[in-house]
Amino acid sequence: MVDVGRHPNIELLTMCEVIDVKGYVGNFEVTLRKHPRYVTEDCTFCGECLQRCNVFTEDEFNVNRALRKAIHTPFLQSVPRQYVIDDKICIHFSEEECQKCLEDCKKRAIDFSQTVEDEMVHVGAVIAATGVKPFDPAGLYGYGNERFPDVITSMELERMMSPEGPTQGKVIRPSTGRPPGSVAFIQCAGSRSLKEEELAYCSKLCCPNTIKNTLLLKEYHTDIGIYVFHNGIRTSGNRQERMFLASRKQGVVFVNALPEITEGHVLNFTDPFLGEDKPVRKQFDLVVLAVGIVPTAKEMSNVLGVPLGKRGFVKEDNQLSPTSTPTNGIYFAGAVGSPADIKQCIEQAGNAAVQVSKHFQRDFAELSPIIAKVDAEKCTGCGKCGNQCLFGAIRIEDKVTVITEAACRGCGNCAASCKFGAISIVNYTDKQIRAQLRAALRQPKDKIIVFACHWCSYAGADFAGTSRLQYSPNTRIIKTMCSCRVTADLIGHAFALGAPKVIVSGCHPGDCHYLDNNMFTRDRVTKLKEELRSKGINPHRLMLEWISAAEGQRFAEAVHKMERLMVDEDEIELSKMLFRQSKETKKKRKKAEINP
Ligand code: FES
Repeated sequence: MVDVGRHPNIELLTMCEVIDVKGYVGNFEVTLRKHPRYVTEDCTFCGECLQRCNVFTEDEFNVNRALRKAIHTPFLQSVPRQYVIDDKICIHFSEEECQKCLEDCKKRAIDFSQTVEDEMVHVGAVIAATGVKPFDPAGLYGYGNERFPDVITSMELERMMSPEGPTQGKVIRPSTGRPPGSVAFIQCAGSRSLKEEELAYCSKLCCPNTIKNTLLLKEYHTDIGIYVFHNGIRTSGNRQERMFLASRKQGVVFVNALPEITEGHVLNFTDPFLGEDKPVRKQFDLVVLAVGIVPTAKEMSNVLGVPLGKRGFVKEDNQLSPTSTPTNGIYFAGAVGSPADIKQCIEQAGNAAVQVSKHFQRDFAELSPIIAKVDAEKCTGCGKCGNQCLFGAIRIEDKVTVITEAACRGCGNCAASCKFGAISIVNYTDKQIRAQLRAALRQPKDKIIVFACHWCSYAGADFAGTSRLQYSPNTRIIKTMCSCRVTADLIGHAFALGAPKVIVSGCHPGDCHYLDNNMFTRDRVTKLKEELRSKGINPHRLMLEWISAAEGQRFAEAVHKMERLMVDEDEIELSKMLFRQSKETKKKRKKAEINP
C-alpha cells in the first residue's frame, strides 16, 4: 500500500465513494463523492493533535477490542500518512466547538471547513476490489453475549496476536486478562451451512489461517494445549499441507467433530475415534471461532451495473476470463469475486491489471463485429429489449432503442425479444438464419435441425467430429452466438419448412458465455413445446439439450435420440401448415401494431 501511495503513475483517492459510473470501455465517467478528512496534506504526522484529543470511541480496526480517538489514523501503515477526524464523534461539530487539535497543530493542517464534494473523473477501465468482511457469528457458540466472554473470533485473535493490536501481541483471556492455558478452535463457524442466515460456502482461508495461528501460539507458548474441531480440514497445495503436518507434530489435536458449548467454555463433543457412545467434555480457557468471509459487493454492483451471483460475489464473465465482468472494461480482483487468500488476491490483481493494460496499448478498442443493430423505422421504443439485456448496452432515446456498441456482446437476446423485428445481430440476422434453414431443408425428409451456440454446443459438435463419433448424416447444424438468439419464430420457421425434428442446444446452466441468457432459451423452448402439444403436435420433435464443448458424445447421443423418434408424414404436414398459418397471422398483427 505504501508503494502504491508513492508510485508516480498512481493517484490514490482516499475517503472517496464511487456513486455513479456511466459510459463504456475507454470512456467511463465516474462520479466520486469525496468525504472530508479535515486534515490537509500539510500534516506531518507529528502526533501533537493526537495527544490533545480526548474523545474516544471503539476502534473498528481492532474489532472494537480497543479504543481510538476522534482524530486518528485508521491503522499504522495507512496511506496517506495523514490523520483523519471522525466527524461523527468529534465534539467540534457538536455544540462544544472544541479546537484542541487545531490549537496544537504547528503546521495549521486542521481544516474544519472541509465539506463533502462530488467530482467526476474520466477513466478507460475500472477494477473493482472492494473486498469482503468477516461473518458475524453473533449467537453462535455463545459468541457476542454476556455468557461466554472467552469465546472470540479468528479476527479478534488475529488482532490480539498483532504487536500493534490491543494487547501488543499478547494472547489473553478477555475475562481475566491472563494468558490461556488451553485454546479450542472451532472451524466452519457459520460456514458450509444449510441455514439461510449462515454461509453455504467454504471460505477457503479459515483452515490455513487456524493452522498458522496454532503454529504461532505453539511458538510463543510451548505448553499451551490446542484442539482444533473441524468439519474436514481443507488444506490444498504443498505449503498448506506442510503447515498442517507441522501443527500436528507440535502436538495440536485435530478432532473431526463440531462441539457444543453448554456452560462456561466447556465443550461437549464426540471423538470419532472413541465413538458416539462416549461423549467427551473438555474445558478450555479460550475458544476461537474460525468464521468465514462475506461479500460486500452489493452497493458496488449497483453502481457499476455488474451482476452478482446468488451468494453475493461478483459474477465473472466466464471461466476463461476469471477477472472480467460481463461489462467490457470493468474488471474485478480479490475476494469480491469468490473467497480467496492473499496469494490468490495478488494473482488476480496482476491479471486484472494486465487486462486493463491491454486497453492502453493502443488508442482504440477492439470490439467484436457481432453486435446488435436497430432499425429505427421498426422500433416502437417499447423498451422490452432493454429489460432483457444483461449487459446494460441498451437505452431508449426519443422513443427509439439505442445500442451502446462498446457494451454490446452480440448474444442476440434483444433481437429474440423484439416482436417488431427491429433489432438484428450482425452476421446472425433473421434473414441469414432463415436462408440457412431454407438451404438445410431443401429436401426436409429425415432432417434434424440443430441450433448450436458458438461457445459450447457448436464446439461439442465439432468435438464429436474430431473424435470420429458417428451420428446421423441428416443432421444440419445452424450456429448462433448464444442459444438465446434462437427465437420461437425461427424454430417455427424450421417446422413450417417441413423439418421433422429440431434440437436447440446451448451451454449448461451456469456456463452460458452471456451470464444466464440460456435461461431465456429454456423458457422460450418450454413455452413452444407447450404450444406444440396444444396444437396436437408431438412436443418431443423439439428438444432442448445442454452440451458443453467437451461433450461430443452427448451431442452424438442427442442426435441419435432424435433419430430414433418416429414422426409420420401426416404430422409433418400438420406442423408445416400450422406454422405457416401462424406466421401469416403474426405478420399481419405486427403490421397492425407498427401502423395502427
Ligand atoms: Fe452457449 Fe449462451 S453461449 S448458451
